[in-house]
Formats: sequence, C-alpha cells, structure tokens
Amino acid sequence: MTVLNTSAIRTQFPALCREENGSTVAWFDGPSGSQVPHSVIDAISEFLTRGGSNHGGAFAASRDSEATHEGARTAIADLYGTRKDDYIAFGMNMTSLNFALSRALSSSWGSGDEVVVTRLDHDANVSPWLRAAADSGATVKWVPFNTDTYRLDLARLADVVGPRTRLVAITHASNAIGTIVDVAAATRIAHDAGALVAVDAVHYAPHGLIDVAAIDCDFLIASAYKFFGPHIGAMAGRGALLEELDAYKVRPSPSRGPDKWETGTQSFEALAGVAAAVDHIADLTAANGPRRGRIIAAYTAIQDHAISLGERFLRGLPDTATVFGITDDLTARTPTFAIELEGLSARQLATELGNRGIYVTDGDYYAVEVMNALDRADGGLVRIGFLHYTTEDEVDRLLGALGELAGNA
Ligand SMILES: Cc1ncc(COP(=O)(O)O)c(C=O)c1O
Repeated sequence: MTVLNTSAIRTQFPALCREENGSTVAWFDGPSGSQVPHSVIDAISEFLTRGGSNHGGAFAASRDSEATHEGARTAIADLYGTRKDDYIAFGMNMTSLNFALSRALSSSWGSGDEVVVTRLDHDANVSPWLRAAADSGATVKWVPFNTDTYRLDLARLADVVGPRTRLVAITHASNAIGTIVDVAAATRIAHDAGALVAVDAVHYAPHGLIDVAAIDCDFLIASAYKFFGPHIGAMAGRGALLEELDAYKVRPSPSRGPDKWETGTQSFEALAGVAAAVDHIADLTAANGPRRGRIIAAYTAIQDHAISLGERFLRGLPDTATVFGITDDLTARTPTFAIELEGLSARQLATELGNRGIYVTDGDYYAVEVMNALDRADGGLVRIGFLHYTTEDEVDRLLGALGELAGNA
C-alpha cells in the first residue's frame, strides 16, 4: 500500500497557507473546487509570460498554442483512460459542454423518445436534458436513489430504459452525499436497450480513477478545477458519434474532429494548467512508467487516504450530528459528507465554522433532486469534503469545532 505524503503534497499548494482570524484555513470545500499546486500556477503563468498566440498562425507562438492544446488533450486522455478513437474537447465548464452536447443530441429526438435522468445528479446533468426533452417533445424518466441506503437504484434504471430511450444521463459520484455509482453497470443496461450514456464525472474526478474504456460510456465530462487544475471543462466521447452529431458552431470553425465542439477561442493558459494538473496527480506516488499507469497508482493511494480520513471523521462526530450518506462501506463513497448538526441551520453551522477558518459549503450545491429526496430543499445541508491534501489534524480540528458547537447548540 502506498501512503500519500500529505506534508510534501501540502508544500506544493500555496493557498493552504491562507490565514483567517489568526488561524490557518482548513479547506473542506473541495467539492466546490480544489486549490492548485505551484506546478499548475507556473504552467499558466509560463504560457502567458512566453506569449500566447491564437491557433492557425504561420509562426512559432501560434504553433506553441496548438501544441499546448494537444498536450492538454493527451493529458485528459490519460486521466480519463479513453479509447483510441475518442475525441477530447474542452469548454468553459462541464455545464456548458453538457448543454452543447444535449442540444446536438436532441436535435434528432421527437415525441415518443425518452431520456433518463437520476435524482442523485448535480443539476448540470439534469437540466440540460430536461430542456432538451422539452424542446424536442421527448419524455423524461427519473431514476431515484434509495434514501435509506443512499445508493442509486440500478434495478429501477433497468425498468425505465426501453426501446425508446435515447440517452441515459448519470453521475459517477454524487457531489452532495458522495455515493459512487457503478456507471459501467448502468452503461451496460442502457446499451442493451440501445440508448447512449452521458456520464458526469465532475465530482468523482479528484477521488477515483476514471476509466472510460472500462465504463464504455459514450460521453464523459469533468472539470479541471475539481482536480487541482484551472477553471475549464473537458469532455471525452466516441469520435464517430461526435463526428456524426451536428454541433452548434460558427461557420468558419472546423466541421470535423474534436475542434468542432470547442466554441470560440479556448483558454490556452488553462489548457497548459490542465496538463500540469494531470501531471500533478501522476506524480503523487513513486510509481514509474507511462502516465496512465502512474495515475492508476495515484488513485489507489488517494482512495486509501480518503478512507482513513473518513473513518476518523465518522468516529469522532458528536451524537447530535447526522450524516446523510453511506457510512458502512467507505469504498462505496467519496470523502464528501453531507451533515446536519441538531439546533443549527446549515448556514449557521457553515458560518460558525467559517469564523473559525474552517471552510465548508452549505445549501444544495445544485444537487436539487438530492435535497428534495432528503426533504432538505429548505436550507440544504453542510457539506464537508476531503482531498489528498487534507490532514488528520485538520479533521481533528473540524471535529473539535463540531463538538464545541454541539455543546453550545
Ligand atoms: C457533480 C457535478 N457535476 C457538475 C458540476 C458542474 O460543473 P461546472 O462548474 O464545471 O459546470 C458540478 C459542480 O460543482 C458537480 O459537482
């Protein structure tokens, strides 16, 4: 078992030194966005310092941008474990890419067609499909999650997909309650019925190994700002399908290849940062060899770290705290815990913790259907997220503050 060297990792992240009210900030808001290492900041800054030109120029700086773009695509292919023929396309964020995909896909849908969404998903993998269905006349079918076990009901998925299902939109992991979904099994169910599958891996990406080839999904999107990179989204999808689909694009932009999915000028500096973020993950352990193999080793270590912190956290919670999520098998979840503390609203608890330099998120974090199902639409829950740079001391500090607030509440 490779143990992550958290202290060495932390020295690479300048933001982890931030102070608030005299104490170092403890960043538990990773599910909203991670901090970035020096290598990412340097890659972005070096691109801009060197001088970045737009693609298509007959000079070196333009060719540099093109190489940066290709480098980012190769890095994402390694991170996602894509198939040989997959395309990688970048966009402002996952939400924008998913709207582009849903618009293009649904242009061939009509009345009687069906699209399947889940109640475990972030709204970025729900609303684009609701809208696509409304615009095309297709019907929406919902897959619930079990509010006792917090798992997605794959049996129900098998029930709702049928010959008219055009697409299943499904999350790799819940950004609210941390449940990991067996997206490979979901894809098999969808494909058996002849439906396409779009996976949202935004929350899963910093926690678990993405393996597009093994999942065999048709499309998968994540965002680099959740896995230690800059604010940019990256979509992988079957090249043949993306080629065939009619992307919404301007006339002069390429009508073939992944470029047709990338509207306007890309953030080349962010693309430089994406490759650095993937390299950061690949370099987390002492593993040698090709980058994909090092990424696989890194995620094993990341997962062990997450489980150990999760166990410590659950053991130390005050009795008046309720966890909404899987607690009996930490391999089935990410270290993202939605909790409630008796006597305090989610906003009050987040504010109390924030005043102590402990950053957590509160509300629904756009997991609208999750909060509805948990009967927490009003105010939501406090969300605590651990990443590879989270330490046992930080977890203990959080538990101390929760214990103190439980006593005071
Ligand atoms: C699971 C999940 N999906 C989608 C999104 C939306 O991602 P983006 O901000 O890149 O549009 C988020 C953002 O928090 C998320 O957690």
